[in-house]
Amino acid sequence: MRKKLLLGNWKMNKLASEAKEFAIASKPLVALAKSNKIELGVAPTYMSLATVRKYSAKAMIVAAQNVHFEEKGAFTGEVSIPMLKEFKINWVILGHSERRTYDNETSEKCNAKMKALIANDMIPVYCCGETLAQFEAGETKAVVKEQIEKGFEGISEEQAKKCVVAYEPIWSIGTGKNASTEIAQDVCKYIRKVLKGVVGKAASKIRILYGGSVKPENIKAYLSCPDVDGALVGGASLKIDSYEGLLKNIL
Ligand code: PGA
Repeated sequence: MRKKLLLGNWKMNKLASEAKEFAIASKPLVALAKSNKIELGVAPTYMSLATVRKYSAKAMIVAAQNVHFEEKGAFTGEVSIPMLKEFKINWVILGHSERRTYDNETSEKCNAKMKALIANDMIPVYCCGETLAQFEAGETKAVVKEQIEKGFEGISEEQAKKCVVAYEPIWSIGTGKNASTEIAQDVCKYIRKVLKGVVGKAASKIRILYGGSVKPENIKAYLSCPDVDGALVGGASLKIDSYEGLLKNIL
Protein backbone atom coordinates (compact mmCIF):
# COMPACT_ATOMS: atom_id res chain seq x y z
CA MET A 1 0.00 0.00 0.00
CA ARG A 2 1.32 3.40 -0.95
CA LYS A 3 0.78 5.98 1.79
CA LYS A 4 -1.04 9.11 0.67
CA LEU A 5 1.07 12.23 0.61
CA LEU A 6 -0.01 15.86 0.66
CA LEU A 7 2.85 18.24 0.02
CA GLY A 8 2.55 22.02 -0.07
CA ASN A 9 4.93 23.90 -2.33
CA TRP A 10 5.22 27.43 -1.00
CA LYS A 11 7.45 28.64 -3.84
CA MET A 12 8.78 32.17 -3.12
CA ASN A 13 6.16 32.97 -0.50
CA LYS A 14 6.08 33.60 3.25
CA LEU A 15 8.51 35.38 5.53
CA ALA A 16 10.09 33.18 8.19
CA SER A 17 7.77 34.79 10.75
CA GLU A 18 4.74 33.74 8.67
CA ALA A 19 6.18 30.28 8.14
CA LYS A 20 6.61 29.91 11.91
CA GLU A 21 2.96 30.78 12.49
CA PHE A 22 1.89 28.20 9.93
CA ALA A 23 4.20 25.54 11.39
CA ILE A 24 2.74 25.97 14.86
CA ALA A 25 -0.84 25.96 13.56
CA SER A 26 -0.19 22.81 11.52
CA LYS A 27 0.69 20.62 14.50
CA PRO A 28 -2.81 19.22 15.11
CA LEU A 29 -3.19 18.62 11.38
CA VAL A 30 -0.07 16.48 11.30
CA ALA A 31 -1.45 14.41 14.17
CA LEU A 32 -4.78 14.05 12.35
CA ALA A 33 -3.01 13.06 9.14
CA LYS A 34 -0.84 10.54 10.95
CA SER A 35 -3.80 8.84 12.58
CA ASN A 36 -5.31 8.50 9.09
CA LYS A 37 -2.08 7.16 7.56
CA ILE A 38 -1.52 10.24 5.47
CA GLU A 39 1.83 12.02 5.22
CA LEU A 40 1.78 15.78 5.35
CA GLY A 41 4.47 18.19 4.31
CA VAL A 42 5.46 21.64 3.11
CA ALA A 43 8.33 23.01 1.06
CA PRO A 44 9.24 26.47 2.37
CA THR A 45 11.98 28.72 0.98
CA TYR A 46 15.53 28.08 2.18
CA MET A 47 15.14 31.02 4.57
CA SER A 48 12.28 29.33 6.44
CA LEU A 49 13.35 25.68 6.39
CA ALA A 50 15.00 25.69 9.81
CA THR A 51 12.11 27.63 11.34
CA VAL A 52 9.46 25.28 9.98
CA ARG A 53 11.50 22.24 11.01
CA LYS A 54 11.84 23.63 14.52
CA TYR A 55 8.22 24.65 15.11
CA SER A 56 6.28 21.96 13.25
CA ALA A 57 5.44 18.46 14.43
CA LYS A 58 8.15 15.85 14.08
CA ALA A 59 6.13 13.90 11.54
CA MET A 60 5.74 16.94 9.29
CA ILE A 61 7.76 16.53 6.10
CA VAL A 62 9.82 19.64 5.50
CA ALA A 63 11.20 19.77 1.97
CA ALA A 64 13.60 22.13 0.23
CA GLN A 65 12.59 23.41 -3.21
CA ASN A 66 16.02 22.76 -4.73
CA VAL A 67 19.54 21.64 -3.86
CA HIS A 68 22.95 21.48 -5.52
CA PHE A 69 24.47 18.08 -6.29
CA GLU A 70 27.99 19.00 -5.14
CA GLU A 71 28.80 18.88 -1.44
CA LYS A 72 30.54 22.23 -1.34
CA GLY A 73 32.61 24.57 -3.44
CA ALA A 74 32.53 27.60 -5.69
CA PHE A 75 28.81 27.67 -6.56
CA THR A 76 27.61 31.12 -5.62
CA GLY A 77 24.00 31.22 -4.51
CA GLU A 78 23.65 27.46 -4.09
CA VAL A 79 22.84 25.26 -1.09
CA SER A 80 24.22 21.75 -0.63
CA ILE A 81 22.86 18.50 0.76
CA PRO A 82 24.99 18.55 3.95
CA MET A 83 23.68 22.06 4.63
CA LEU A 84 20.12 20.78 4.47
CA LYS A 85 20.93 17.70 6.51
CA GLU A 86 22.39 19.80 9.29
CA PHE A 87 18.89 21.21 9.76
CA LYS A 88 17.24 17.79 9.45
CA ILE A 89 15.77 18.54 6.05
CA ASN A 90 15.53 15.21 4.26
CA TRP A 91 13.22 15.89 1.35
CA VAL A 92 13.86 17.97 -1.78
CA ILE A 93 11.63 18.93 -4.71
CA LEU A 94 13.52 18.58 -7.99
CA GLY A 95 12.79 19.70 -11.52
CA HIS A 96 9.75 21.83 -10.77
CA SER A 97 8.55 23.39 -14.02
CA GLU A 98 9.30 26.89 -12.74
CA ARG A 99 12.90 25.90 -12.16
CA ARG A 100 13.05 24.12 -15.50
CA THR A 101 11.73 27.30 -17.16
CA TYR A 102 13.56 30.06 -15.27
CA ASP A 103 16.70 28.34 -14.00
CA ASN A 104 17.69 25.95 -16.73
CA GLU A 105 16.99 22.94 -14.54
CA THR A 106 17.29 20.02 -16.94
CA SER A 107 16.38 16.38 -16.41
CA GLU A 108 20.11 15.55 -16.60
CA LYS A 109 20.86 17.98 -13.80
CA CYS A 110 17.98 16.55 -11.79
CA ASN A 111 19.42 13.09 -12.30
CA ALA A 112 22.71 14.16 -10.69
CA LYS A 113 20.73 15.65 -7.81
CA MET A 114 18.59 12.51 -7.49
CA LYS A 115 21.72 10.37 -7.17
CA ALA A 116 23.30 12.71 -4.64
CA LEU A 117 20.12 12.79 -2.54
CA ILE A 118 19.71 9.01 -2.61
CA ALA A 119 23.37 8.57 -1.62
CA ASN A 120 22.60 10.72 1.40
CA ASP A 121 19.47 8.80 2.32
CA MET A 122 17.24 11.69 1.34
CA ILE A 123 13.99 11.71 -0.62
CA PRO A 124 13.62 13.47 -3.97
CA VAL A 125 10.24 14.59 -5.28
CA TYR A 126 10.92 14.61 -9.00
CA CYS A 127 8.56 16.79 -11.03
CA CYS A 128 7.57 16.28 -14.63
CA GLY A 129 4.92 17.65 -16.93
CA GLU A 130 4.21 19.16 -20.30
CA THR A 131 3.58 22.71 -21.54
CA LEU A 132 0.25 23.79 -23.01
CA ALA A 133 1.66 23.63 -26.55
CA GLN A 134 2.93 20.10 -25.94
CA PHE A 135 -0.42 19.09 -24.44
CA GLU A 136 -2.30 20.49 -27.42
CA ALA A 137 0.05 18.74 -29.83
CA GLY A 138 -0.64 15.41 -28.09
CA GLU A 139 2.95 15.15 -26.86
CA THR A 140 2.25 14.74 -23.14
CA LYS A 141 3.34 11.11 -22.87
CA ALA A 142 6.45 11.57 -24.98
CA VAL A 143 7.50 14.53 -22.82
CA VAL A 144 6.99 12.81 -19.46
CA LYS A 145 8.61 9.62 -20.74
CA GLU A 146 11.78 11.50 -21.59
CA GLN A 147 11.76 13.39 -18.29
CA ILE A 148 11.25 10.21 -16.26
CA GLU A 149 13.82 8.18 -18.18
CA LYS A 150 16.47 10.88 -17.86
CA GLY A 151 15.64 11.70 -14.24
CA PHE A 152 15.82 8.06 -13.08
CA GLU A 153 18.73 6.97 -15.27
CA GLY A 154 21.22 4.82 -13.35
CA ILE A 155 19.03 4.57 -10.26
CA SER A 156 18.54 1.03 -8.99
CA GLU A 157 15.30 -0.69 -8.12
CA GLU A 158 16.20 -0.58 -4.44
CA GLN A 159 17.13 3.10 -4.53
CA ALA A 160 14.04 4.11 -6.47
CA LYS A 161 11.53 2.76 -3.97
CA LYS A 162 11.58 5.79 -1.73
CA CYS A 163 11.55 8.36 -4.52
CA VAL A 164 8.43 10.38 -5.21
CA VAL A 165 7.29 11.66 -8.60
CA ALA A 166 4.98 14.61 -9.19
CA TYR A 167 3.09 14.96 -12.44
CA GLU A 168 2.25 18.61 -13.00
CA PRO A 169 0.90 19.69 -16.36
CA ILE A 170 2.41 23.16 -16.69
CA TRP A 171 -0.78 24.57 -18.18
CA SER A 172 -2.62 23.83 -14.96
CA ILE A 173 -0.07 25.26 -12.51
CA GLY A 174 -1.40 28.39 -10.84
CA THR A 175 -3.90 28.90 -13.65
CA GLY A 176 -7.04 27.42 -12.12
CA LYS A 177 -7.29 25.30 -15.29
CA ASN A 178 -7.47 21.81 -13.92
CA ALA A 179 -6.49 18.72 -15.75
CA SER A 180 -9.45 16.36 -15.61
CA THR A 181 -9.16 13.39 -13.28
CA GLU A 182 -9.14 11.20 -16.42
CA ILE A 183 -6.03 12.99 -17.69
CA ALA A 184 -4.38 12.85 -14.26
CA GLN A 185 -5.03 9.13 -13.92
CA ASP A 186 -4.07 8.33 -17.50
CA VAL A 187 -0.74 10.16 -17.31
CA CYS A 188 0.11 8.95 -13.79
CA LYS A 189 -0.61 5.36 -14.88
CA TYR A 190 1.61 5.89 -17.89
CA ILE A 191 4.38 7.34 -15.69
CA ARG A 192 4.23 4.19 -13.57
CA LYS A 193 4.60 2.12 -16.73
CA VAL A 194 7.63 4.13 -17.81
CA LEU A 195 9.08 3.82 -14.32
CA LYS A 196 8.67 0.05 -14.54
CA GLY A 197 10.86 0.06 -17.62
CA VAL A 198 13.56 2.05 -15.82
CA VAL A 199 13.48 0.81 -12.22
CA GLY A 200 11.51 -2.40 -12.48
CA LYS A 201 9.32 -3.54 -9.63
CA ALA A 202 10.03 -0.40 -7.60
CA ALA A 203 7.51 1.33 -9.87
CA SER A 204 4.65 -0.10 -7.86
CA LYS A 205 6.12 1.38 -4.66
CA ILE A 206 6.89 4.87 -5.97
CA ARG A 207 4.34 7.47 -5.01
CA ILE A 208 3.09 9.63 -7.85
CA LEU A 209 1.52 12.95 -6.93
CA TYR A 210 -0.68 15.10 -9.10
CA GLY A 211 -0.14 18.86 -9.07
CA GLY A 212 -1.69 21.88 -10.76
CA SER A 213 -4.51 23.98 -9.30
CA VAL A 214 -5.34 21.39 -6.66
CA LYS A 215 -7.78 22.85 -4.14
CA PRO A 216 -9.83 21.57 -1.20
CA GLU A 217 -12.80 21.24 -3.57
CA ASN A 218 -11.10 18.99 -6.12
CA ILE A 219 -8.41 17.10 -4.19
CA LYS A 220 -10.63 14.17 -3.33
CA ALA A 221 -11.39 13.41 -6.96
CA TYR A 222 -7.69 13.31 -7.84
CA LEU A 223 -6.81 11.12 -4.91
CA SER A 224 -9.55 8.70 -5.84
CA CYS A 225 -7.59 7.82 -8.99
CA PRO A 226 -5.77 4.50 -8.53
CA ASP A 227 -2.39 5.79 -9.72
CA VAL A 228 -2.52 9.16 -7.96
CA ASP A 229 -1.02 8.78 -4.50
CA GLY A 230 -1.15 12.36 -3.35
CA ALA A 231 -0.93 15.99 -4.35
CA LEU A 232 1.69 18.68 -4.75
CA VAL A 233 -0.14 21.90 -4.00
CA GLY A 234 1.01 25.47 -4.53
CA GLY A 235 -1.49 28.28 -3.98
CA ALA A 236 -3.95 26.32 -1.88
CA SER A 237 -1.24 25.25 0.58
CA LEU A 238 -0.33 28.76 1.66
CA LYS A 239 -3.14 29.47 4.10
CA ILE A 240 -3.60 27.15 7.03
CA ASP A 241 -7.39 27.02 6.57
CA SER A 242 -7.06 25.92 2.99
CA TYR A 243 -4.28 23.44 3.88
CA GLU A 244 -6.59 22.04 6.53
CA GLY A 245 -9.35 21.79 3.92
CA LEU A 246 -7.06 19.84 1.61
CA LEU A 247 -6.33 17.34 4.36
CA LYS A 248 -9.84 17.03 5.72
CA ASN A 249 -11.26 16.38 2.28
CA ILE A 250 -9.07 13.33 1.79
CA LEU A 251 -9.60 11.73 5.19
P1 PGA B 1 -0.62 25.36 -7.91
O1 PGA B 1 0.94 24.99 -8.00
O2 PGA B 1 -1.25 24.42 -6.94
O3 PGA B 1 -0.64 26.79 -7.39
O4 PGA B 1 -1.20 25.25 -9.27
C1 PGA B 1 1.33 23.65 -7.98
C2 PGA B 1 2.83 23.55 -8.09
O5 PGA B 1 3.44 24.34 -8.83
O6 PGA B 1 3.45 22.69 -7.46
